[in-house]
Amino acid sequence: MKKRVPLPERTLTIEALSHEGRGIAHEEGKVVFVDGALPGEVVRAAWVRRQRRFDEARVVEVLQASPDRVEAPCAWAGVCGGCSLQHMSNEAQLRYKQEALAEQLRHFGASEPRQWLPALRDTTLGYRRKARLGVRYVLKKERLLVGFREKHSNFLVDMQDCPVLDQRLASRLPQLREMLESLQIRQHMAQIEFAAGDEEVALIFRHLLPLPDTDRQRLIEFCREQGWVAYGQAEGPQSVCRLTESGPGPDDRLHYALPAADLRMAFHPGDFTQVHAGINRRMIALALDLLDIQPEHSVLDLFCGLGNFTLPLARRAHEVIGVEGSVEMTERAAENARAHGLRNVSFYAEDLQQELHTSAWAGRHFDRILIDPPRSGAEAVVRHMSSWGAERIVYVSCNPATLARDAGLLAEQGYVLHTAGVMDMFPHTAHVESIAVFVRGK
Ligand SMILES: C[S@@+](CC[C@H](N)C(=O)[O-])C[C@H]1O[C@@H](n2cnc3c(N)ncnc32)[C@H](O)[C@@H]1O
Repeated sequence: MKKRVPLPERTLTIEALSHEGRGIAHEEGKVVFVDGALPGEVVRAAWVRRQRRFDEARVVEVLQASPDRVEAPCAWAGVCGGCSLQHMSNEAQLRYKQEALAEQLRHFGASEPRQWLPALRDTTLGYRRKARLGVRYVLKKERLLVGFREKHSNFLVDMQDCPVLDQRLASRLPQLREMLESLQIRQHMAQIEFAAGDEEVALIFRHLLPLPDTDRQRLIEFCREQGWVAYGQAEGPQSVCRLTESGPGPDDRLHYALPAADLRMAFHPGDFTQVHAGINRRMIALALDLLDIQPEHSVLDLFCGLGNFTLPLARRAHEVIGVEGSVEMTERAAENARAHGLRNVSFYAEDLQQELHTSAWAGRHFDRILIDPPRSGAEAVVRHMSSWGAERIVYVSCNPATLARDAGLLAEQGYVLHTAGVMDMFPHTAHVESIAVFVRGK
């Protein structure tokens, strides 16, 4: 059981960085995870929590600073759970992420790549186009809070600004907070989901009681004044609908451009989209180059979402098949293909964590495969890889541990980990996004 223990402050020497971006030290033989500390530093730390196998602490004073330490760009960096590495230079963040990936590969027995790519970089602030912000009305203080959770707690940060969030929303947080505080059902607003395209912004308001007309009107008007679109969500994700004066409205689409492929991708605010638009564009270009796509190639895009890689691939290849678990996402992908007159793509809705015996596409040959699974990785489908005969596979990963596990499965099928690199999709957080190229029998 977790216990809050008011222990005296101690001086600690930080030995390493944990996967969630905390400093690791030892005190009387026990591991201590220290928020806000970097490897090599000597810090005075205050204990936050004592657990059976490890303790948790936070930095009170840095006595000997690491050369990687920088001033955090955010005033809430010490408390906000949205980021964990704001006090570390971007160079060092990326070095640490590459080391984390290399360590996972070693841990799972897969060899290191023959070649490391330079980290893929873009802007490190104002990048976040998707976010889920908590909303809570604190009765005692008679104040409504909007923000990310505090580190290791259920409390919300009273966020007035956020330098990593898209500035279209970040600069309006105080006004958003005030508007929500004025609602009749302010105590029953649970969260806001933010989604932004290149030009459009949408907010999905999750409300636990039916919206009174005046509140509905207030949400619509506030969003209209900002140039945004308001959505409501009364229950699960299927209940998300656009708010209009007369009830649920037609779904609008947001858009992001992929200029190199001459595409304008349409999506619904609840859809999965890559968080960082700049890195996304660079990542697609890099993936296509690493795949070495030729005009005669048949390509398989696994976990294809709304066609983020599929459509750029279709611009270069003979034919592309996209497979994805969500029916809505495959519909969106097909809609995007039609809007661009692309006839050499087909999409299949399929659970890729299950056996694929019956699927028509699964019995075919592919020259190239792109795979971009969720955090759990792609164990089931990776076991089929060699049956498709592809010479090259590009694996885009948001979890180095499952990438490393799947790399081992690919090695058993004769695929060599040729190239790998990290991509700065989530600057200032400990999330590691990476890309890896597997080549058959070389
Ligand atoms: C990391 S996203 C990548 C989406 C897309 N490649 C992109 O770049 O936007 C992973 C995708 O896997 C899908 N997915 C999750 N679990 C799945 C499953 N069991 N079978 C098939 N697809 C799944 C999600 O719906 C999501 O679209």
